[in-house]
Formats: sequence, structure tokens, C-alpha cells
Amino acid sequence: MRVLMVCLGNICRSPLAEGILRKKVEEQGLQWEIDSAGTGSWHIGEAPDPRSRAIAKDHGLDISKQRGRQFRAYDLEEFDLIYAMDSANYSHIVNQAKSAEERDKVQLIMNELWPEKNVNVPDPYWDDNGFEKVYQMLDAACDQIIEKYGKVN
Ligand code: 4NP
Repeated sequence: MRVLMVCLGNICRSPLAEGILRKKVEEQGLQWEIDSAGTGSWHIGEAPDPRSRAIAKDHGLDISKQRGRQFRAYDLEEFDLIYAMDSANYSHIVNQAKSAEERDKVQLIMNELWPEKNVNVPDPYWDDNGFEKVYQMLDAACDQIIEKYGKVN
């Protein structure tokens, strides 16, 4: 399985999602490939936001070696599952899909935990206190992803 996490900047939410899922995948002994990207271009090449790195560290994760990159249409061919953090990211990705098969790879990540509720992972960039909530939401969603696809390599 190849799984891509996508947010706006690729410095706050999706790097956390990548780190959380990667750890769970390793714990399960799965051979998945996990990556993340942003729909925007501002933070290409940057490490994750210090506040995301700190929350990750609080939970035993090191995401400091990740570097920001921008989502590209080719990701819709390369990856099996593409998780958008919010509805704006979702629209951005789906608008670049060239087929129903590509469209079907794209989901709002919280719909794994709360199907069809279309809950967004709130953008914590402007909210210093938002990071722990984001971590908890993504941790629960990633547990569901493992539960659902954990038999697939
Ligand atoms: P992210 O948060 O999408 O969770 O990485 C943001 C990071 C940067 C910006 C917006 C959101 N920005 O406007 O630079």
C-alpha cells in the first residue's frame, strides 16, 4: 500500500499524519509506503512546523527529518490511498483526478473514523493550542486505517 497525507502547507497536519501512520505501520510489520504533501507551495523543502515537531515528540515520534513538498497530479497515479485533511484540500486533489479510479483513492481522513460526516482536521497554523487536538484526531483516524487495511501489504 502507498498512502499519501495531504494538507495545505505540509508543515502542520500532514507531517503529523505521516509520522503517526508510519509508526503504526512499523508496529504492525506492514511494508507500506507513507508520504505527505501540501496543496500550497509556500513551504517546499521546509521541516515541519516546530509546534508539530514538539507535539510529535511528546508522543514519541520524530518527524523532524520530513521535508515539505507540493502535491502533484502524478500522486494520483502513484498512491493507492490519498487522505485530505480538510474539504479544501479534498477539492484541490479531486479536481486533478483523470478517472473515477483516481477519484476513488481520495478521502477525507476523518471519514475513516466518522464515515460520511465530512469532519475537517482543523488547521492549527494560527492556533498554538490546536496541535494536541489535531494529534488526537489523526491518531484515532490512523488506528481506523490500520484496522481497515492492515491485512493488505
Ligand atoms: P498545514 O497548516 O496545512 O496543516 O500544514 C498550514 C501551514 C502553513 C500555512 C497554512 C496552513 N500557510 O498559510 O503558510
